Amino acid sequence: MEFAFYLPTKVHFGQGKVKKVGKIAKKYGEKALVVTGRTSARKLGFLELIEKELKKEGVKFSFFEKIEPNPSIDTVKKGAEFFKQERCDMIIALGGGSSLDAAKVIGIMVKNPAPLSSYFGKNKVKEEIPPLIAIPTTSGTGSEVTPYAVITDTENDHVKKVIADPHLFPKEALLDPELTITLPPSVTSDTGIDALSHAVESYLSKKSFPLSQTIALEAIRIIGIYLPRAVKRPDDLEARTYLMYASLLAGMVIAQTGATILHTMGYPLTSNFNIPHGRVNGILLPSFWEKSFSGEPEKFSKVVASLLEGIEDSQAKNPVKSALFIKEFLHKAGLPKNPNINIEEEELSRFAHEIIKNKGKIAVS
Ligand SMILES: [Fe+2]
Repeated sequence: MEFAFYLPTKVHFGQGKVKKVGKIAKKYGEKALVVTGRTSARKLGFLELIEKELKKEGVKFSFFEKIEPNPSIDTVKKGAEFFKQERCDMIIALGGGSSLDAAKVIGIMVKNPAPLSSYFGKNKVKEEIPPLIAIPTTSGTGSEVTPYAVITDTENDHVKKVIADPHLFPKEALLDPELTITLPPSVTSDTGIDALSHAVESYLSKKSFPLSQTIALEAIRIIGIYLPRAVKRPDDLEARTYLMYASLLAGMVIAQTGATILHTMGYPLTSNFNIPHGRVNGILLPSFWEKSFSGEPEKFSKVVASLLEGIEDSQAKNPVKSALFIKEFLHKAGLPKNPNINIEEEELSRFAHEIIKNKGKIAVS
């Protein structure tokens, strides 16, 4: 057996951990750029909380509250200019996958002068980015422990592009489940299904290895129990805690193996129809399942046995039946029954070409 498991991010997990932000930030300099979305972080009082903790430790800060869902190059460019103008030393990223990924790309643009497109792909970032402290407010992206960022290429074809580089691992991650208590069921569902697809794809990936597989199956098991519970009862702190833990585990393993074709297939649907990233993965998962099952029947059955406690062995080993069980689970986990996407045949063929073009490239986040 041989493998490499690289995770340089220091993880702080538990209720109330967000309050450590001041003490942690102090280690990395005098002034932080706090990168976040346009409304919810302020509305929910998270920015006020961070402001208080930073002030307590004498860390100066500026807010950049402009990150949109599926962030664009235009926005991160503005963020990088603002970082320089405000003479910041570090970035604190607060929010879902969009804010965390945008903060990473802002970091690249601050330190790496070439056009951003030259960093698309794997291992192309030359200079270290400013220290990044990641504080996720959803349980799904895993971006707080991955070397990946996804950005919409608004300067060219409006397609989502992946940057994968070890420079993008945050220095520290604060995972506080209390921050996810106010998430509405639809966001809990979309992000939870994203975490599930990270764990499933990592497990099925040809790049997986015994350690990553063990962690991935544990993430799948936990999501099987707690995602439907958190969708049903948003204030269930135990469910929120375990979901955040599972999302962390799933992030840890896609950081090692990358995702698979399921993520690649989802990107055009998110870019062109604005369907949330995790929901797209959920919509595609049952068909992906049925079509790919025969390639690795044992691995597929193990996934379904972990996700659905008590499923009979014969059902777990049947591609059609297990796909139906997964579909049923996804609906219990909040996935809409009739997603209703109207795609013209011509568009479908364009997407298929795009997916084939990206096949084999790393697909994440
Ligand atoms: Fe994802």
